[in-house]
Amino acid sequence: MTQPVPGVAPKTHGLALDMKPGDEHYRAYVGPPRDYDLVSAMVFNLLTCTGLRQHHRVLDIGCGSLRVGRLLIPYLNAGHYTGIEPNRWLVEDGIANEVGSDLVRIKQPVFSFRDSLDEFQAPLAVDVAVAQSIFSHCGHDLLRQWLSQVSAHLAGNGALFATFLVSTQDFAGTGWVYPGCVKYRPETLEEWAAECGLRFRLLDWFHPRQQWALFSRPGYDASLIDGGPISWNRLATREGR
Ligand SMILES: C[S@@+](CC[C@H](N)C(=O)[O-])C[C@H]1O[C@@H](n2cnc3c(N)ncnc32)[C@H](O)[C@@H]1O
Repeated sequence: MTQPVPGVAPKTHGLALDMKPGDEHYRAYVGPPRDYDLVSAMVFNLLTCTGLRQHHRVLDIGCGSLRVGRLLIPYLNAGHYTGIEPNRWLVEDGIANEVGSDLVRIKQPVFSFRDSLDEFQAPLAVDVAVAQSIFSHCGHDLLRQWLSQVSAHLAGNGALFATFLVSTQDFAGTGWVYPGCVKYRPETLEEWAAECGLRFRLLDWFHPRQQWALFSRPGYDASLIDGGPISWNRLATREGR
């Protein structure tokens, strides 16, 4: 079952600027602590510049310590944020240090402390899914499982925004690799996406270490993505503002 998180004392706190990625701290565990704020901004700006609005439903795969959730939860309508995270302590520390139990009470985010969507029987029909620095740690079995599960839980016009590490050779191993990283050829991801009914595109959106990609269902409106740079002004123009 999905479980709301009650207010608990954090296991870790502070900015951890002297720690390494993967260290046992809510900010360090998910990546270089000096980039924690930049990664929050990078994802939130990508999603809002490509049309994310408050009424959309968002699935945050491997949501960690809510580096992105701390901006998405206040932005979205109550109950519209779902975070999947096998390491429960990261979500608890993220709530205690970044979000606060008042916002959890008001915005009713849903959390699943698993490494899959298995506990969701009915389709979630999410508009936007995000997997920031998840495919860079997935063996081919896990990566294909995530594509298949996310595709089944996306609305017909939904899309997954995900990062990965590009190579000319595919990682051949299986399972979760952490804090080490794995790499894939874009052509391979395109093939696996197509098997799940998803169209694959590389996105021109800066990431300090990885490549952004879009995996979209057939009904997705890519008019803010194709044919030019993604930007806030482009969104405003399309909306006629
Ligand atoms: C590099 S961190 C990224 C966290 C978050 N997406 C962010 O950008 O801050 C990877 C996250 O994936 C979680 N994780 C572990 N096993 C996983 C799995 N099998 N599938 C998805 N996420 C997993 C980790 O606990 C960790 O929070």
